[in-house]
Amino acid sequence: MKTIIIYRSGRSMNTQRIAAAMAEVLGADLAKVEDVKPEMLAKYDLIGLGSGIYASKVHRKIFKFIKKMPLKDKNVFIFCTSGSGEFKNKTLVLEKLSAKGCSVIGEFNCPGEFSPLGFNFDKKGHPDEQDFAAARVFAAGLLNKDSLIS
Ligand SMILES: Cc1cc2nc3c(=O)[nH]c(=O)nc-3n(C[C@H](O)[C@H](O)[C@H](O)COP(=O)(O)O)c2cc1C
Repeated sequence: MKTIIIYRSGRSMNTQRIAAAMAEVLGADLAKVEDVKPEMLAKYDLIGLGSGIYASKVHRKIFKFIKKMPLKDKNVFIFCTSGSGEFKNKTLVLEKLSAKGCSVIGEFNCPGEFSPLGFNFDKKGHPDEQDFAAARVFAAGLLNKDSLIS
């Protein structure tokens, strides 16, 4: 199953590092969301889409990606890293993916440290080894899905 994991990650690279852990298990290609061109997607059976959460939202580049890219009949999984451990506008992301004709086969949330002006929320040190292990288990589970569009 040819897979690409597409992510938007900021300075701390939390989402990028989780994406890389998943990519290792899946043998997936990795790409920054801003580097993906529509013609690149045709060869992939599975697309992972990840973002940090900023001001309670997925990065706007993720929405732009969903709007512009040819995603019909693609298997997609979504993931995020966030200070709250939540993916707040997940429903909107799922609606937009569904409207594009995707089958969303998995979701993964991970805590990600955020230290504004030296202040640490309780996610200090995350993603940690347990988080990376959970990401690997999640990715391995995707390989065994029988709900994949083929
Ligand atoms: C500018 C900024 C705003 C953030 N706002 C939120 C937020 O509203 N809710 C939340 O849970 N986490 C928030 N965070 C924490 C990030 O979601 C978390 O650190 C995430 O792991 C960042 O991923 P990245 O390193 O891949 O960019 C914010 C982080 C930054 C830098």
